[in-house]
Amino acid sequence: MGTKTILVTGGAGYIGSHTVLQLLQEGFSVVVVDNLDNSSEVAVRRVEELAGDAGKNLVFHQADLRDREALNKIFASTRFDAVIHFAGLKAVGESVQKPLSYYDNNLIGTITLLEVMAAHGCKSLVFSSSATVYGWPIQVPCTEEFPLIAANPYGRTKLIIEDICRDIRKASSDWKIMLLRYFNPIGAHPSGHIGEDPHGIPNNLMPYIQQVAVGRRPSLTVFGTDYNTNDGTGVRDYIHVVDLADGHIAALQKLFQDPNIGCEVYNLGTGKGTSVLEMVAAFEKAYGKKIPLVMAARRSGDAEIVYASTMKAERELNWRAKYGIDEMCRDQWNWARKNPWGYGSPESES
Ligand code: NAD
Ligand code: UD1
Repeated sequence: MGTKTILVTGGAGYIGSHTVLQLLQEGFSVVVVDNLDNSSEVAVRRVEELAGDAGKNLVFHQADLRDREALNKIFASTRFDAVIHFAGLKAVGESVQKPLSYYDNNLIGTITLLEVMAAHGCKSLVFSSSATVYGWPIQVPCTEEFPLIAANPYGRTKLIIEDICRDIRKASSDWKIMLLRYFNPIGAHPSGHIGEDPHGIPNNLMPYIQQVAVGRRPSLTVFGTDYNTNDGTGVRDYIHVVDLADGHIAALQKLFQDPNIGCEVYNLGTGKGTSVLEMVAAFEKAYGKKIPLVMAARRSGDAEIVYASTMKAERELNWRAKYGIDEMCRDQWNWARKNPWGYGSPESES
């Protein structure tokens, strides 16, 4: 598929940077658009270095998706074969506090992108959706046909964008769209040069554990010890970010090769559930020391057990996750140990 050019929105972010690296390694040309709201240009430069010779096929624009003029210029200068759309705000708690920011950024950003794509005749899209659309699932594993629910403004933006995609495809059959529902991406590139570096206090489990390990936080608070699970803590489907990035290459391949793709949805997970305490134990094995824990009440809005059915992605994308939680924790710790302050420094801590 050598010479195709892909626009990656949010390509400086956690999942975006890993996907951009894999795209370059697979021979794609990549243009990244990111406003660096939750990321650093250092990530883009490290991807360029890791890609070696293929790094020359990467172009970065610092721009906001809601800036229609900037987007129009980018589309006018390059013909894109497809867009992978990661850009958006993703912190659930913050979305409850600041719903308008989430609707503005995620919805207006996406609508502007879709309009500019259509105006320039690029109608192939891969979109980052989330397992959050399954809420507290009626049973597990979650299949793509499960009922969908929005438990908070962040989740609602994902549902609305999924619906917008289904609607535009109904209205115009030349759109080809892949909606990818990620479960819990963790880990980092095995080089330890790129990884997750959230601004502020981490909301998610692994970035929090990582910051305890490097001494930036005193202990991990375990949210809920009375769930109906083996050890009482919540169960999730953790997936190595490199596997997730591979899932995007598989989705693109399907998009380019299957003339009958309309608007299709796929879970990207491992199909395996792991509890909070099991994750802590796996991380401690990689880290070689204990993580101090504080047991606490459930976090509002959390589900008990969530993991994916991976059958549809395996069957139709010919993709499945390769890595287990030991490799995820090994690579998470490798990234943390080499970059205790992420892409920043102690002074840049907020
Ligand atoms: P991230 O915050 O690391 O990356 C998102 C990137 O988008 C950031 O670099 C940010 O600066 C950029 N961005 C945000 N708003 C923008 C705008 N208006 N214009 C241009 N750039 C903008 O997050 P991530 O973990 O890499 O997630 C990528 C996508 O996957 C998001 O849409 C997220 O909702 C979705 N997702 C993430 C997870 C997860 O656990 N990480 C799970 C499910 C879905
Ligand atoms: C959360 C979001 C979800 C989003 C996903 C990825 C909520 C309610 N859900 O999912 O919408 O798509 O992140 O961004 O926020 N945990 C602790 N201590 C911590 C952090 C987490 O015990 O400090 C526990 C949680 O209770 C949960 C598990 O670890 O059982 C995983 O949590 P997290 O990493 O936040 O992911 P999700 O809750 O699955």
